Amino acid sequence: MDYKSILEDFRREGRLREIPPHRAGRGLLDLSGNDYMGLAARQTMFRQGFSERFPEISMSASASRLLASDQRIFGMLENRLEDLYGRPALLFNSGYHANVGTVSALNIPGTLFLPDRLIHASAIDGLVMRNTQMERWRHNDTDHLRRIVEKRRGEFDRIIVMAESVYSMDGDIAPLEELVALRREFPEIMLYIDEAHAFGVFGKKGLGVAESLGLIDETDIIVGTFGKACASSGAFVSTSATLRDYLVNAARSLIFSTAIPPVCAAWSLMMTEILEDMSDERARLAEISAEFRGIIEDITGKECVSRSQIVPLMAGDATKAVKMSHRLGEQGVIALAIRRPTVPPGGERIRFSLNAGLSDSDIHKVADIIRKL
Ligand SMILES: Cc1ncc(COP(=O)(O)O)c(C=O)c1O
Repeated sequence: MDYKSILEDFRREGRLREIPPHRAGRGLLDLSGNDYMGLAARQTMFRQGFSERFPEISMSASASRLLASDQRIFGMLENRLEDLYGRPALLFNSGYHANVGTVSALNIPGTLFLPDRLIHASAIDGLVMRNTQMERWRHNDTDHLRRIVEKRRGEFDRIIVMAESVYSMDGDIAPLEELVALRREFPEIMLYIDEAHAFGVFGKKGLGVAESLGLIDETDIIVGTFGKACASSGAFVSTSATLRDYLVNAARSLIFSTAIPPVCAAWSLMMTEILEDMSDERARLAEISAEFRGIIEDITGKECVSRSQIVPLMAGDATKAVKMSHRLGEQGVIALAIRRPTVPPGGERIRFSLNAGLSDSDIHKVADIIRKL
């Protein structure tokens, strides 16, 4: 086996990944990114206000958070998140860093991890970094989760149940109320919720699904990212003061990596302020997502699991998914094929990622193209 033959296998199986070419231009409808509130698309509107507010902001932290001399903007952003969530926050360089660093740090003796089977690769990477005690539960199946908890709880001091509030590939939503009920019933449970695709999109202030259900205080760790609806880069963990202090001492992705550029932290701060007031856009996005889901169900004759702005169109195999993506691209719609290993075999699909800036005619245009596919 060598690297070249591995690439050839990928090509033969229709799952060779390539970085797509730069595509821009009038009339292109981009449904591939995660700019759910359309803020990144409109960023030029905010640039002048940003430069006036942060004229001296630095482009580089030049050191890890633990060594950087200038902590002002990081502190401001963490304080803002603390005001929003009502508990401390810790910044990370990305959602990937946040999950890998936090999960691996939480892995101390006496800990059992129970991740939903479809949890994101960054959390999985955190889990496999060390000799982890873990058992995966069937996706969104809290009966299965309960059985595992009941069977294994005597062996461990703590059980960390992990879920994504909005799943990145199917757009379905974790049964957060049931997870919280389990946490109330079993005191050794800690609840770890990755809100990467919900931050900015759900909740009155855009804090995520936990906020929309009034359950922030009944979670132990919330991960949010700035690179999606927030139109920036970086991420945060919202947690207790003790766990924040612990992560500062144990999260290797925080300790051993240069902090995000202050300019990004400042932009994130400004974007969180704008996001907080985007309730109308959140309602609009929920409305068009439901409509688009209905269209997909009509066309395929099958129920679509999505309950969010991420809507999958199942293709059946990798070759079909790639063909569909090309056909959409020819007609000006950018929607990428998702293949193994991002999704399991048979789960190949087009992932439509909707945003609040889409018009009704955009939605109907995409629906017409899909019908013809
Ligand atoms: C559920 C989930 N968590 C974390 C991440 C990683 O976030 P980031 O892109 O900020 O590294 C992603 C990225 O796609 C994600 O989908």
